[in-house]
Parts: sequence; structure tokens; C-alpha cells
Amino acid sequence: MILVNENFLKLKAGYLFPEISRRVFAFSKANPDAPIIKLGIGDVTEPLAPAVVEAMHKAVDEMATHSGLHGYGPEQGYAFLREAIAESDFKSRGANIAVDEIFISDGAKCDTGNMQEIFGIDNVVAVTDPVYPVYVDTNVMAGRTGDNDGKGRYANIIYMPCTAQNNFVPELPTKPVDMIYLCFPNNPTGAVATKEQLKKWVHYAIENNAVILYDAAYEAFIRDDSIPHSIYEIEGARKVAIEFRSFSKTAGFTGVRCGFTVVPKELVAYTKDGKAVELNPIWNRRHCTKFNGVSYITQKGAVAVYSPKGKKQVQDTINLYMSNADAMRAALTAQGYQVFGGEHAPYIWLKTPEGVDSWSFFDTLLNKANVVCTPGAGFGAAGEGYVRLSAFNNPENVEEAMDRISKI
Ligand code: MLT
Repeated sequence: MILVNENFLKLKAGYLFPEISRRVFAFSKANPDAPIIKLGIGDVTEPLAPAVVEAMHKAVDEMATHSGLHGYGPEQGYAFLREAIAESDFKSRGANIAVDEIFISDGAKCDTGNMQEIFGIDNVVAVTDPVYPVYVDTNVMAGRTGDNDGKGRYANIIYMPCTAQNNFVPELPTKPVDMIYLCFPNNPTGAVATKEQLKKWVHYAIENNAVILYDAAYEAFIRDDSIPHSIYEIEGARKVAIEFRSFSKTAGFTGVRCGFTVVPKELVAYTKDGKAVELNPIWNRRHCTKFNGVSYITQKGAVAVYSPKGKKQVQDTINLYMSNADAMRAALTAQGYQVFGGEHAPYIWLKTPEGVDSWSFFDTLLNKANVVCTPGAGFGAAGEGYVRLSAFNNPENVEEAMDRISKI
């Protein structure tokens, strides 16, 4: 008899974003003329940067020739892209990352979900609450958790509440943990962590032989230079941290698919009898076995992001999204809402009106303003009482959405 992986049965009904799409689809079917504005999933709206488009066109033309055809590439990514990343994303910020510590992939979602495979099943996982659901769900699928308590929490996971009281930056865990997922700038709250705050986490991980799984997918939205873009700006982090990055939000690649992960060579995990094992070769082994590399055309587009023209064009688009975030913060605050985030991140974390839960507020926004948001409860129990609004849209739609919300 074929047996199912019963861990999947522990998962809550559907993944958050398809569930929202389902509800929005049902609403549009019933109200075909409703002019819906989507500020839900963080999906980009602005076209690719011209420098990226030009590089991809050129790569397609190369591929159309015998001499320029690229078949299977290096699973870890082409040197031209890994070198540009090492130089522009890390060296420029004082972080020393070697080319063979960088693994190009089809995005941070897959990497943050897959990385748990290289860790023992008995490790204790710590996540922030609210949290990007991928970190939790993939550990549930792997069998590292117990059952769901019906309120959004799984047994055997340590949840670290992120609230207005702690500025949405978690306290260190009081029980020992092994795998710590951190995301800054944070999805969903938009919070950022200072150098001092990250130092505490790196110190904790060193003291406790733990690993930090650091999701920096939104680092390009940081507007204050004193805020770290990478965990490797913190001394000692190379010994204890893996970092995930993405071109999705930085360069509008949500539909193109490209990201990368850094696994430093100093990073180790232990066998049950205490022997240290380097994780870089283990991730390399896993990556080469399960992944055939990102397409040449995509990587050529990605490397163009680091060209002088590409940098400027990509920054202009980020500025547009962040001016949306400024407009949203200003409008919602003027309307009497309490808002967080949106200063160094493309997400606004809005406190729902007293006594209104996050799915009810989602319904209100959809029905009365035809605006889609993401209910905070979908990110965990501590997300209840909040909704997330994405700044990824064009300024006209954002203005219109704010106007409609003011009339609710
Ligand atoms: C989000 O809206 O949280 C993200 O776009 C989802 C993702 O990156 O997978």
C-alpha cells in the first residue's frame, strides 16, 4: 500500500496567497465590473529595466547561433553573475563573500523552502510571528513539527512574537533553538533590524551552535545607510549564517525567476556524535543533484542589474515603489489608522480597527473599496489584528486605493 507523507496533512488548508487569489476570483466573478486594485501579494507592476531587457535580447540572439548556444550551465550559476554579486552586493558593504559561496537559483522562495533539507530532523526551529509562511510550511512538510493548534501555531516550533512593543524585532529565544529564520527588511511587517540587533543574534548563534537562515530579499528597499543589507556585515556571521537574496523585488524578476543563496565555507553543522561538517559542500551537493541551473538568458539579464545603467534604472523603480509606500503611510495615518513599516520596505503593516479581525478587514476592503490586502493572520497568530498592504503598484492606483479606503 502506498503511504502518503502524513506531514502534509498537518498543513493548514491552503497556502496563503492562492487562498487570497481564490477569494478575489470569487468576488470578481460575482462583481465583474468591480475595478479591483491589488495591494495583496508583493508582485511587481513596473516593466523590467531597459538594461536588463537589452541584455536578455542579446542573450537570446547568442542562443540562436551555434557558437553562442548555451546548454546546461554550471548548476551554481555562471561566474559572470557570481562575480558581480560578490563585488557589488557584499564587498561594497565590507562583507567578504567568495564566488564559490554563492549559489544562483530560481528565487529566494525555493531556497528558503529547500534549505531545511540539509539539517537534521530533530533540530528545533525558531521563527518570528508573524512570519513568511514558507519557512514554517516547509518544516511542517519535512516532519520537524507537531500538529497545528488550530490558531496558526505548530507544536515543536518556537514562535518569537514581533509586536509594536518590540518594534517588530524579536527577542532572543528563552529555550535553546537550532535553526533561526530571520527576515529583514521584514515580510510582512516592513520592520528593519539595526546592526546592534543583528549582532545579538549572531552572538546567540555562535554561543548556541545554531544557524541563522537570513532572508534579505528586500534589502534593496533600505533607505538608511546605517541599516545592514547583509547579515555578513556583522562580525562572526560567516560562521553561523546562510543568506537568501532575490532579484524578484529588487529588479522586477517575479516572473523571470532568479535569486541566490550564500553558504559560507566556515559554516558548519554537527553529526550526532559532535563532529563538525561543512555546509557549503553539502548544499552544493544538494543543489547539483536537484537543480540544473538558471537559464543563461535569465542570468545575463540579472548581471545587467549591476551595470551602471542597470543600477540606476533599477533604483528608479525602487524609488517609485517607495514613494508609493510614503504616500500610503501618509494617507492612512491621516485617516486615523496606525501604520508600521513602509520606510525601508515595500510593505505597510496596518493595525485593523478595534475589534475587527484581519480576515474581516480583508473582506471590508475588498467589498467596500475593491482593494486587495493580505490578512495578517495568514502570517501567524501574532499577525491577527493587522493587514499587510503592498506598495508594488503604480502611483495612480495607489492614490485611488487610498481615496477609496478613506470613504469606507
Ligand atoms: C509576498 O507577497 O509575501 C511575496 O511576494 C510572496 C513571495 O515572494 O513568495
